Amino acid sequence: MSEHKTTKNHLISQLFWQTEIGADEAISTYPLVQDKMTALKQYMELLEKSVQPDLSLPKTSPSQVNVLEQTNSSGANISTVDSEISDSKKPGSLEALTTLNELKMALEKFDGCSLRNTASQLVFGDGNPNAKIMIIGEAPGKDEDKMGIPFVGQAGQLLDKMLKSIGLDRQQIYITNFIPWRPPGNRTPSPLEISQLRPFMLKHIQLKKPDIIVALGGVSAKALLETELGILKIRGLIYEKKFGSDKSIPILPTLHPAYLLRAPAQKKLAFYDLVMLKRAISKGLVTH
Ligand code: URA
Repeated sequence: MSEHKTTKNHLISQLFWQTEIGADEAISTYPLVQDKMTALKQYMELLEKSVQPDLSLPKTSPSQVNVLEQTNSSGANISTVDSEISDSKKPGSLEALTTLNELKMALEKFDGCSLRNTASQLVFGDGNPNAKIMIIGEAPGKDEDKMGIPFVGQAGQLLDKMLKSIGLDRQQIYITNFIPWRPPGNRTPSPLEISQLRPFMLKHIQLKKPDIIVALGGVSAKALLETELGILKIRGLIYEKKFGSDKSIPILPTLHPAYLLRAPAQKKLAFYDLVMLKRAISKGLVTH
């Protein structure tokens, strides 16, 4: 009975996503453009592959960001040192923190970043604090600043649909932003702000101990992977990186839903990335 229900929900969410990526036009009265045909074909292939996952992990080198899985033909090659946090970069008090709540309180008190002066409030995290999938966005927008919860605006609603398309909801993920205060007018956070808040992000990851991090958008992906390469170059791969502990954490960079709202044709790329996440889950590499 419940299996039947799951299948039904799953099919509905898949149909929903097909509509989102434009596959609904397969039944339009006008001829399909080649792009849509290709997207639909690739979508069906990916769905088939996702049922029989094949995640073969190459050997990893502890001091580098490694590519774990690839669907991106550009083969972006990121090679950076691991993120062992040097003591000089850490605000002293972070060392002793053992819970997410303590980290939240430390951020509430932190006055080393001027964004807190223009934002209405700190936006810390949402979803399930015990979830093993950690999604990291850029910074709160207007709605998030008002509500104090990440990804509640239009972009967040699209994100929920994207997650639903691979059978996930907010109870199966934990979501936060690299920058916890809204930058004025939603401007891109500056390199200085990113470096001021990096120690808190690293501590957040250390406390969460996720099985996988999904980096949403260029700002988050570039900051986490410490690269200057753009998101369109680095997405399509799963990297792994150490964040101050012995265990490497896989990082899956993908397109930000706010960008997808402006460029809906790119939704198919985001879907490829989500299929990689789904394969990692089916392979048992990620608990949800
Ligand atoms: N964009 C983000 O990166 N984070 C949010 O919380 C909302 C929009």
